[in-house]
Amino acid sequence: MVIGIPREILDGENRVACIPDVASKLIKRGFKVIIEKDAGLKAGFTNEKYLNAGAEIVEDLLQLYQSSDIVLKVQRPVEHPVYKKNELELMKKNSLLICFLYSLHNPELAKKGAELGVNIISMDAIPRTTLAQRMDALSSQANLAGYKSVILAANHLNKIFPLMMTAAGTISPSKVVIMGAGVAGLSALGTAKRLGAVVEVSDVRPQVKEEVQSLGGKFIEVPTDQSMQDSGGYAKEQSDEFLRKQKELIFKHITEADIVITTALIPGKKSPVLVTEEMVENMKPGAVVLDMAVEFGGNCELSEKGKTVVKHGVTIIGEPNLPSLVPYNASEMYSKNLLSLIEYSANDGNFIIDMEDEIFKSAVIVKDGEVIHQRTREMLK
Ligand code: NAI
Repeated sequence: MVIGIPREILDGENRVACIPDVASKLIKRGFKVIIEKDAGLKAGFTNEKYLNAGAEIVEDLLQLYQSSDIVLKVQRPVEHPVYKKNELELMKKNSLLICFLYSLHNPELAKKGAELGVNIISMDAIPRTTLAQRMDALSSQANLAGYKSVILAANHLNKIFPLMMTAAGTISPSKVVIMGAGVAGLSALGTAKRLGAVVEVSDVRPQVKEEVQSLGGKFIEVPTDQSMQDSGGYAKEQSDEFLRKQKELIFKHITEADIVITTALIPGKKSPVLVTEEMVENMKPGAVVLDMAVEFGGNCELSEKGKTVVKHGVTIIGEPNLPSLVPYNASEMYSKNLLSLIEYSANDGNFIIDMEDEIFKSAVIVKDGEVIHQRTREMLK
């Protein structure tokens, strides 16, 4: 089978879906790998490196799409600026697209794929199970995003992170509050601690308290119970009443913070609002809020997607694509996730989708002209 890797065209996307090392491993597995010229450049991977890995460089994008049985991408398919068509329309019938489709937020793309006869596996639908751990691209990218969120916020802060005792006096450490102790939140916690900040963390799932403490964070207690978590280990949507109580309890912590990083996610739902305008008004001048959930509605009432704004003297960062700001490592990890998925079901240069398998049952969104992913079907209704 031929695996094709086009250059990412969504604004601000610097990653590439396959690094040269992974291309070489796919070739050893019996696949032919073709890649659009300069597709890896923004992430730090030159055409020469792909050639040395045994891949073929293609200048004609239509040729790439028309020869590929499997297309590997990072982002969902979007309209191509030159061809004025959605990237899905450039693909050949019965081929397979593997990317972050976020089909619960973009169900119309799944429908389009079905109409065009393009099969789709979405990396955000890979289950968070032990078996699928090596393919868990959401986690690999969220880990990096958590790191970068702290670096970015620190860059906008008018203070340093660590305690410093000098002849000119003592500087007290900065205080960072993190909302949501999932993959991104725990990575942000580790990074902020390494830089010397005092870190407080809140989550609705009580079972994360120990993890927070083991990384040196203080857990902000909000009365919760096991029913706040679903069977997949994700948070369930919370009631308005709960969110109101939570806001009262965390008000003091947020308003005393130098940096607030919000990462609260409910899969497939709009993100809960945790930082209100009133809280921002009461924060210290020069404080920073970084809203990681900005892509899906945001956890801060004042954040704006893709923008850094100053409101009530507080800098609010709404960067929707933090992994793309560390594209070298993000591409490395993402393409290894893809390699694990392909190797899982590869046989002598062929990739087989076994619909009895629990990973494919969860991650295949479109197959044989039909949207088969149940929750995406419900979104379409
Ligand atoms: P995750 O599911 O591992 O963690 C989310 C955490 O938020 C969970 O621990 C959950 O219990 C918690 N949570 C839910 N509601 C809450 C509430 N009301 N209060 C406190 N905590 C609450 O998700 P992950 O992978 O860590 O991603 C977190 C967020 O970051 C998501 O919104 C994701 O879309 C976003 N993200 C953003 C990136 C960017 O570039 N801006 C990159 C990667 C992820």
